[in-house]
Amino acid sequence: MNLKGKVVLVTGSARRVGRVIALAFAARGARIAAHYNTSAAEARKLVAGVKSLSGADAEVFRANLFDAAAPQKLADAVVRRFGGIDILVNSASLYERTPFSSATAEDWDRHMAVNARAPYYLAQACAPWLKRTGEGCVINIADWAGHRPYADFGPYCASKAALLCASKLLAKSLAPEIRVNAILPGPVLAPDAMGEGEKRKVAEATLLKRLGTPEAVARACLYLAESADYSTGAELTVDGGRLIA
Ligand SMILES: NC(=O)c1ccc[n+]([C@@H]2O[C@H](COP(=O)([O-])OP(=O)(O)OC[C@H]3O[C@@H](n4cnc5c(N)ncnc54)[C@H](OP(=O)(O)O)[C@@H]3O)[C@@H](O)[C@H]2O)c1
Repeated sequence: MNLKGKVVLVTGSARRVGRVIALAFAARGARIAAHYNTSAAEARKLVAGVKSLSGADAEVFRANLFDAAAPQKLADAVVRRFGGIDILVNSASLYERTPFSSATAEDWDRHMAVNARAPYYLAQACAPWLKRTGEGCVINIADWAGHRPYADFGPYCASKAALLCASKLLAKSLAPEIRVNAILPGPVLAPDAMGEGEKRKVAEATLLKRLGTPEAVARACLYLAESADYSTGAELTVDGGRLIA
């Protein structure tokens, strides 16, 4: 798919990995619907960055994806502003420490709602628009830990496993017009609070013995959107070999 002029909705794109994904699509001349929840100033900065990078149109859209009505409202707002949606990248995610002995039902509900339910319903809400060109695609940003959960982040890991299942379910439900694929990042950008010692341990646990970059995830998104025209229901790891280490 030629990305020039295409409308790309990237959830959670005000900061960190989502921001780099949005900028990568913008560099190809795509128009960017920049979703955020709490990071309003960063989202506005991203939109200014997109416009100066490529001159492409961009706009911010706020939605709390814990709210069950938010996916449809978000898709409607993007279509009102841009006239359609060509690519959906589900990158927004909740990542909270929830030790086994103290994880609550609310912890489960929040992670499942934001990380699995919202991407599914966003794909459903965007589907009529994604279908129009016969080239539309959905990219779900999951996690290697959806296959190999680690302790203390149970609801997060389970929500990413649910997202991997939802991704295949969407691939079946939206075929043949829309391709749906998942990316499974490894440690590409440490949480803001992680110290250097911990980062070294995390890097050491990968086969490649180093941390990845958000740019590697963004390149995988471009590949799935631009070139992977015979891939749907696929899982693409960008994890330095962490999943099989
Ligand atoms: N970083 C890594 O090394 C790594 C590793 C494996 C997988 N991943 C996956 O890659 C993706 C991006 O990673 P990241 O580290 O950039 O993610 P992140 O910083 O943990 O979260 C990305 C964004 O999600 C948004 N978000 C959180 N709760 C939300 C809610 N209730 N409604 C709407 N948006 C909400 C936040 O937006 P606001 O700031 O606007 O509130 C946040 O900036 C995620 O899906 C993550 O699970 C990342």
